[in-house]
Amino acid sequence: MRKYYMCACFYFKNIYLKNLDVHIEFREKPHFVKTYRKILDENGYNDDEKINKLIAQIEDEVDRRRKLGFDSLQRLKIIEETYRPLHPEIFVFKEFFLSPKFLQLVKCCKDADATFEGVCEYIQELEISRCYVIPVFTDEFCKLFLEEVHHFEQSDAPKGRPNTMNKYGVLLEELGFDPFFTELREQYLKPITSLLYPDLGGGELDSHKVFVVQYKVGEDLDLAYHYDNAEVTLNIALSPKDSYKGGNLYFGAMRTELAVDRYKEIEHQSTAGVLHRGQHMHGAASITSGERFNLILWMRASIVRNKKCPMCDSIPDLVETVGFGDGFTKPETVDVCSVV
Ligand SMILES: [Fe+2]
Ligand SMILES: [Zn+2]
Repeated sequence: MRKYYMCACFYFKNIYLKNLDVHIEFREKPHFVKTYRKILDENGYNDDEKINKLIAQIEDEVDRRRKLGFDSLQRLKIIEETYRPLHPEIFVFKEFFLSPKFLQLVKCCKDADATFEGVCEYIQELEISRCYVIPVFTDEFCKLFLEEVHHFEQSDAPKGRPNTMNKYGVLLEELGFDPFFTELREQYLKPITSLLYPDLGGGELDSHKVFVVQYKVGEDLDLAYHYDNAEVTLNIALSPKDSYKGGNLYFGAMRTELAVDRYKEIEHQSTAGVLHRGQHMHGAASITSGERFNLILWMRASIVRNKKCPMCDSIPDLVETVGFGDGFTKPETVDVCSVV
């Protein structure tokens, strides 16, 4: 496999503080206090003791991020050796896991004459710019997959968490699902994203990060307004509609645009996915009862992000890591001996 990297900005940028509901940058205390003075005051962080506690929390998160690659590999190894899956058959990708309508959509997109207009009958266009609902999995697959997620959560296996904003959820690469989603991305999603997002590297997506997020009353209720570290995101609703209330996805402006006055909401349909641009700001409203699981696939195109890291808007400062990292690559070096 090609070697993938992270950008060093991961260690100091986009750190989410739940008690302040804000993403911050942290370099050192004086800079932090000066930059966020207003928001700290507004939230009652007006003495050194409180601020130091908050900084300790930030430093813990930075520490988690620095050890993430190593810790993740360790967990993957332990899970591989000790975890007994409930449904081992779903760990290997099979086409019949996919909804027949999704397969029709993929077939249509693969056609040499495929056009955006031509595939529109297979996707649901939303009022939200470049945001589409597509069929993805079958009911049966979602049911088995959810049972596996529950089984994993109840096991003694070590668990990482998806990101700073989601405390509850499962990192699917640690559970051994990366080959499954590589096949889904390469063979099925790429033909669709090539047509819908050619300008964002939709035809050249070469890595991903995939995780399940869980919302439950008493645990994570909602997801703050944010953007993704992805060129294109697919967010699939796994839970049956009658198993929870609330929790709609909402979208605002693109990251670089001015804030919007009104968010647009989507009521997510079970087994279907919402496709959107990673830089399109969004969040999830609070659920009011039950429990909801969503599968999030962040798809990345190194050809796009190598030019500018979407999290710091600079040429990425590459840091070695494991697996797909954050999807950055170094230019391939040509083996001169093989060029004759
Ligand atoms: Fe997101
Ligand atoms: Zn960066």
